[in-house]
Amino acid sequence: MRFHGGGYLKGFLDFSSNINPLGVPKPIEEEIRRCLKEEIYKYYPDSNYLNIKRAISYFYDVEAENIVQTNGASEALSLIVLLLKPKYLVTFEPSFGDYELLTKALNVKLIKHRLNLVNDKFIFEFDFVKNLKEEKLGLIIIVNPNNPTGSYVDIDKIIELAHETSNIILLDEAYSEVSDYDTILKKHEDLPKNVVVVKSFTKVFSIPGLRIGFIYSRNRELIEKIDIIRPIWNLNSIVDYSLSKALTSYKKDLWSFINHTKKYIKNERKMLSHKLSNYFQVYKSCTNFIMLKSNCSAKVIHDMLLKRRIKIRTLNNFGKEYLRISVRRREDNEVLIKSIREIFRNIKRH
Ligand SMILES: Cc1ncc(COP(=O)(O)O)c(C=O)c1O
Repeated sequence: MRFHGGGYLKGFLDFSSNINPLGVPKPIEEEIRRCLKEEIYKYYPDSNYLNIKRAISYFYDVEAENIVQTNGASEALSLIVLLLKPKYLVTFEPSFGDYELLTKALNVKLIKHRLNLVNDKFIFEFDFVKNLKEEKLGLIIIVNPNNPTGSYVDIDKIIELAHETSNIILLDEAYSEVSDYDTILKKHEDLPKNVVVVKSFTKVFSIPGLRIGFIYSRNRELIEKIDIIRPIWNLNSIVDYSLSKALTSYKKDLWSFINHTKKYIKNERKMLSHKLSNYFQVYKSCTNFIMLKSNCSAKVIHDMLLKRRIKIRTLNNFGKEYLRISVRRREDNEVLIKSIREIFRNIKRH
């Protein structure tokens, strides 16, 4: 079984998936509606996906030839590992990814390294990667910001590290547009060829059901090979058509939406972190979710909230006391705080 949550959670307040609380931007919603009206789903998409590549290139101001569109960031992650078949793969825990299953299936050695915890911050250890230098043909996965810790690694230091290692660095930026920081694509001209960036539109545009992301790398050979091994129609025609149009015609509006999102999330995260620190240890986050440590079992809290139709995420594979909540709109965040206050009052009484 592969567990990543998901499914239809109607009737629940969902603090378990990390999508933008501000919802789908209007231009994207309108373009999707237009696709439905024009029955675009009756056609195969263009198998070369020239429009969406051009649109992404225009939106991020990067070269179209260095992009491959993918079915969400998750397809990108699998395609890169499948193509590279690295000698070994390094992850920094706790983190996101099905690498355990993938490396087992491909017979690739998996090195899991725990992030260093200093007070309320998870710290990335550059020296650990530098000391791997002797071993070539490795794939180093850096999730930035990291899920579930919400921690961040400075992009200039990642570029520096890439220059110093002969391994390939896969930088998963699924959350950069809902974080306090800019994407590394702003510095794409400085990226060495051993950096592969994975991006997603899922979180920022609240479209987990549409499935769209992309890979960017200045290693043209790698990009061309990924383009060959991807399924021939890896994006459906609705997302291909609607996003191509929206990213091109509404670039300015969508970047204003992203900047507004970043401010909104920062503000709500501050409020939530402050209030939740009365009940949990709160880890410092720069994005739209917060990792927490409880004094009692996370499952107990999870189950009690579920009874109130609130869904959060337990982090069992890291430890029984850890949970993760997403940052939502103010009114929802207040419901969560109120419920937690009542739950802890009840726990104290018994
Ligand atoms: C760090 C990270 N990368 C990638 C993904 C997958 O994103 P997508 O929905 O675009 O496939 C997720 C989803 O939760 C994630 O947390």
